[in-house]
Amino acid sequence: MAAPLTAPMTAYEQALAGLAAEDPDLVVMTAENRAAIRALPGVLGPRFIDVGVAEQTLIGMAAGLALRGRKPFVHALAAFLTMRAYEFIRTDIGIGRLPVKLIGGVPGFLSDANGPTHQAIEDIAIMRGIPGMKVFCPADEADLVAALPALLADPAPCYVRYTAAPAAFAHPLPGQPHRIETIADGDDVAILTFGLLVGEALEARARLAAEGVTARVLSVRMPKPLDEAAVLAAAADTQLIVTVEDHLQTGGLYAIVCELLVRSGVRASVMPIALAERWFKPMLLPELLTREGFRGPQIAARILERLDHPIGGNRVAANAADPVIARSKSLWARARQLIPGGTQTLAKGPGQHVQGVAPIYLARGRGARVWDVDGNEYLDMTMAVGPLSLGYADPVVDEAIRTQLADGITFSLMHPLEVEVAELVRAAVPNAERVRFSKTGADVTSAAIRVARAHTGRDRVVCCGYHGWHDWYIATTDRGAGIPAATRELVSTFDYNDLDSVRDAVDVDTACLILEPMVVEPPRPGFLEGVRQICDAHGVLLVFDEMWTGFRIALGGAQAHFGVRADLACFSKAIANGMPLSVLAGRADVMQRLERDVFFYTTFGGEALSLAAAAATIPELGRRNVPEVLATRGRALRQGYAQLCAERGIDWTRCAGMDARTLVVFDAAAVDPLLAKSYVQQELIRRGVLWSGFHNLSWAHRDADIAYLLGCYREIVPALADHVAAGTLAGALRGRPVEPVFRRLPNVHQRPRSTP
Ligand SMILES: Cc1ncc(COP(=O)(O)O)c(C=O)c1O
Repeated sequence: MAAPLTAPMTAYEQALAGLAAEDPDLVVMTAENRAAIRALPGVLGPRFIDVGVAEQTLIGMAAGLALRGRKPFVHALAAFLTMRAYEFIRTDIGIGRLPVKLIGGVPGFLSDANGPTHQAIEDIAIMRGIPGMKVFCPADEADLVAALPALLADPAPCYVRYTAAPAAFAHPLPGQPHRIETIADGDDVAILTFGLLVGEALEARARLAAEGVTARVLSVRMPKPLDEAAVLAAAADTQLIVTVEDHLQTGGLYAIVCELLVRSGVRASVMPIALAERWFKPMLLPELLTREGFRGPQIAARILERLDHPIGGNRVAANAADPVIARSKSLWARARQLIPGGTQTLAKGPGQHVQGVAPIYLARGRGARVWDVDGNEYLDMTMAVGPLSLGYADPVVDEAIRTQLADGITFSLMHPLEVEVAELVRAAVPNAERVRFSKTGADVTSAAIRVARAHTGRDRVVCCGYHGWHDWYIATTDRGAGIPAATRELVSTFDYNDLDSVRDAVDVDTACLILEPMVVEPPRPGFLEGVRQICDAHGVLLVFDEMWTGFRIALGGAQAHFGVRADLACFSKAIANGMPLSVLAGRADVMQRLERDVFFYTTFGGEALSLAAAAATIPELGRRNVPEVLATRGRALRQGYAQLCAERGIDWTRCAGMDARTLVVFDAAAVDPLLAKSYVQQELIRRGVLWSGFHNLSWAHRDADIAYLLGCYREIVPALADHVAAGTLAGALRGRPVEPVFRRLPNVHQRPRSTP
């Protein structure tokens, strides 16, 4: 007959009693201070052992019992177990790998009732140093109770941070203490924490969401052994990992996460929120959390500070008015007196933005967000016109740049990165038998033309799209002043997706045909293959300009995606996440011309910061599955746009182009495309979106960003349709509409065949 109960059993005690009823080897032990065990002795009878004040004996006795097949659950204050009994636990239990569970009461901040000597805030560091010892930090009592059967079944010794905290959230993985639980999802920041701080992390998450920052909250129940996949996924998916622990910074969760990242060769930004070599002053828990800065809002503020995130101001939201752009305007006034054309990149200049409404100068960016010089924040759909394949300030790439910066930028001899990045390109890109570097896209398209001319002994070039500012190409446009007529006569054009026009343009005096394998429309079946055949038939080299397709449509670019071989391929935009680097790659026998015949050298060609950025970016593009991520998000955007247009019966606008980079196009028969683009742009700016017609997706664009943009289109496109129907579009613009860039000259189109 059981002794009468002296206290109501806690849920934890009930669970232990239930397990003891089924497993006769389970024994429960305590020292003088029974910690959580009050009512259980009366239920367990002789299987409850209290060693009185002889706390050291507790460990030795537990080891002895375990050696005889018992499964002891040992309860004492966490500080006693981890600090005073350490040597006994290490030698008697840890090294022997005995199935003893050590339940530490009042760990971390819970130690409000005892003096400083009873604070266990280095317990995880101490216990995880013991061979074979597992460490379990349940989030609350429900988590602890659900884990007990698994802990009992596991023959490994384990240190458990006891908690009786009520459950603040549902557990997605009950009974699997070895797994990290994703309590809430998010993509900007990952907060890794445990115990009572999971609740504070959730509160922090809500505060961050109000600032437009999404946070994933992970309950790291078992810091040892760690659920590594969940941590590595967080490192890959987010900009910043934040570890929050009621533990010393040394040796705890922060150290465990960093050790994993270093061991795995993964670069990530990790921000610790912990106690730095200092014990807290005991007080009641709520005051303690506030004093030490562990309250949800305080955690959120620390994260925002780290992200350099402005709180308040004009945000990515439906703002009541256009942003204030006074500083932009004043800079532009100064530029107009000094900088011809005003801009170094036409697509970034005011001519491509509604003047008077759109910001003109950006000050900084992070992820897929930018801030203009007046402090307004935007979701950026232009992404520096392409180079930011991962996003602004990507921690992995930026760290690689910083590391290289400490050693030097550009040198008197070559740098090993030239070899290493060339090998990375060869491994990723089909037919990249030889590789050279330069700085801009135009550098390498022009080098490709020169190499092709040298290789074939012919002068003529055939092209159909934009390939940069150099003479050979820009001569085909109405912006070709300053280019000798003789140069213009060597270039002719064809129409994309029109094999007849290719046949008309290519001839026996053609050195090469250069094209972007895809821009807006996908290649018709057989088009790229047909181009390849025509080139082969005439001894013409085929050059792919892969500024947009390279490392984006697939890691191996268009050659990998479409399965058509090019003789030479030119890359730039996606390869170094914003750093200036371009690549010419191709057939060994053609590229060999660069050994001597063809001169292609420049001071900054082997500049090491950009190469370091590429060395970090290329593997990250693969590791984060970027081409697939971009394609999936781009498809969602395209389909969402098509759906909202279909719902409103609007058939004169659509989202065209490859998934990773779609473009909103307007049918000129129904609406003036430049006015329509201007209207959509001005309305998007008011909603905190920087847009120039394209959706230049980067890995940093999240599903939420796509959803937000579609929500904006849902308001703007019908309003545009109303203006078109009413004939009021021009009057609806609040600034000067965007301008055309340049037009192809009519007389370079499809030259007549020079030989029969
Ligand atoms: C397809 C294509 N080729 C070449 C270039 C020229 O590159 P860059 O401006 O770096 O000289 C561009 C630039 O936008 C481009 O889009």
